[in-house]
Amino acid sequence: MTWKVLLTMTEWIWLNGAIMPMAEAALGIEDRGFQFADGVYEVIRLYDGKPFALTQHLQRLWNSAVDIQLTPPLTIDALAAEVHRLIDRVDAGDAFIYLQLTRGIAPRNHLFPEIVEPTLLFYVRPANPIAPPGEGEGTKLLTVPDDRWKRCWIKTISLLPNVLAKNTAVAAGADEAVFVDMGFVTECSTSNLFAVIGGKLVTPPIGSKVLPGITRMVLLEIAGEMGIEVDERSIREDEAPWAQELFITSTLREISWVSRWNEIYIGRGRCGSVTAALHRALRERIAREVGLEAPALAVV
Ligand code: PDD
Repeated sequence: MTWKVLLTMTEWIWLNGAIMPMAEAALGIEDRGFQFADGVYEVIRLYDGKPFALTQHLQRLWNSAVDIQLTPPLTIDALAAEVHRLIDRVDAGDAFIYLQLTRGIAPRNHLFPEIVEPTLLFYVRPANPIAPPGEGEGTKLLTVPDDRWKRCWIKTISLLPNVLAKNTAVAAGADEAVFVDMGFVTECSTSNLFAVIGGKLVTPPIGSKVLPGITRMVLLEIAGEMGIEVDERSIREDEAPWAQELFITSTLREISWVSRWNEIYIGRGRCGSVTAALHRALRERIAREVGLEAPALAVV
């Protein structure tokens, strides 16, 4: 008989191929991630210890890495196997994986080093509970100028503008910052933005100012299956607060309905029917893919 010892998730990390206690993991001071934010990352949700959309996340990691001229040390399949090796050993439950890939350690120099081993690491953390579809207080958004770079399709670890925007929003009593670029809304500091306008589901197209969110992608598929008309187009700043419904999406929040846009209340303080229906359908999709009962998810 073999015993499988389950480890506490917060104490273990996969670092460059080895699983070790977090307390023993060490990174070089001259890691380019630390000095230049020269790296990319992913956040992957686990439901009852099972990853959702793992391949899509690892594909996006690959795309982000290629776009900064960094070759990941493992193929997508090999990396997926390593992710499973860690989560099989920890008692993850409802959690998320933080995964980071940097160009590695080299004497500080803006030029790419000729010989360098990338630094790859990931670990598991408990996830915050998510309100069931249509419930909760709703999210308050605050508009901020989009002062980020023009390659927001890359999931770079260089997140200072996002960090500053999120803190500005929370300091003003809001929950999330929504970026505005030359009169158009792009996305939020940690999430993508959707609106229901004239019965259509509208969301800004991915590109220089919009990350190809995995939740966004899954939701657009679901909307198509539900027969909801989708319009991927720019949304004017003065148009957004007059939408019938607004919501934001991300791996860590699934869907959050928006109750306020600056001082303006959206949908009389209630979650809209399209938003709630999409969230229910998303949860059904997640439950199907990870092999859980949908009702079990409703109480996450
Ligand atoms: N952020 N846009 C931005 C700027 C984001 O940081 C995120 C997610 C998203 C949504 O992407 P996805 O659906 O793939 O999670 C959009 C993660 C969760 C984070 O940084 O914690």
